[in-house]
Amino acid sequence: MSLKKVTDEAGDTLTLLDVDGFLFAPDLPEDVIRGLRHFPFRDDDVMVCSYPKSGCHWVWEILRMLQEETIDVAVHEKEGLMMEWRTPEFMDKFPSPRVLNNHVLLRHLNPELFSKKIKIVMVVRNPKDVAVSFYHHHKKLVEYEYNGQFTNYVRNYLDGKVDSCCVFDYTRDWEKEIEEHPAHPILLLCYEDMKENLFHEVKKIGNFLGKSFEDAFYQKIADKCTFSKMRDRKGAVHKELENNIFYRKGEVGDWKNWFTVAQSEWCDRICEEKMAGSKIRFRYTLDNNRETNNNDTGS
Ligand code: A3P
Repeated sequence: MSLKKVTDEAGDTLTLLDVDGFLFAPDLPEDVIRGLRHFPFRDDDVMVCSYPKSGCHWVWEILRMLQEETIDVAVHEKEGLMMEWRTPEFMDKFPSPRVLNNHVLLRHLNPELFSKKIKIVMVVRNPKDVAVSFYHHHKKLVEYEYNGQFTNYVRNYLDGKVDSCCVFDYTRDWEKEIEEHPAHPILLLCYEDMKENLFHEVKKIGNFLGKSFEDAFYQKIADKCTFSKMRDRKGAVHKELENNIFYRKGEVGDWKNWFTVAQSEWCDRICEEKMAGSKIRFRYTLDNNRETNNNDTGS
């Protein structure tokens, strides 16, 4: 086991698992991670890929409704189909079409996904809200053994000393893969666009999957996947603590309550350097007048 303790600016430590320089939650099974290159895909698998805390649970739930063609899907944890956590044998028990998910890079995955044309849905979220969400994740989940303050956490987050890697490196790496595989079916979504108009984004995912539902069905999914409805529903499968982490606030712009001006400018500078040449524009705020049908926050 290559467990590692990352020290923040005040000396508090965060426990992570290091597998060949890529970091994971400390309780993830190293053999499963190492086996990802040989993961047995089914032809009809769909995969959600995202940097942690970018809305993976949200997109996973929407994809299940679209794939199962009903809003009455069974209440499951997405973690049951998380590729760096569960063994292929465990995931084999799930009927097709499966909605897999992970937080790794394309190079970690079985390249067979190209020949099988596995559909990939990626979601990105602005890195400041991700930082705040990730901080709460690290602080509240006991396995990380972290008890630091947000202000001392930011440097490690920006340095990529958190699960996965630096948010900018992750995003840039995936963006380059998308550009290098123009024929591969990959849909790029933005958390803030989903907050702004969920119906529109659900329909976009439906079209990407080759579905042709009536708008009314897309609207029903959007209504069922608002933040507060999802949090209430998932409370049945998550312990209260986990539910409060995976469905914490669900807002755009909470970062303003946490970042100092200097930290925010520092994040912008790193973003500018690391995302040079990128077409992705992170959205740090929403125009409230334009926010439609998903404006509940439950907070
Ligand atoms: P916050 O901690 O900012 O609230 P992931 O699923 O990738 O772990 O991302 C978790 C983040 O997505 C959390 O952000 C969570 O609240 C938010 N989220 C989950 N479901 C959501 C929904 N239906 N609408 C908006 N945000 C949602």
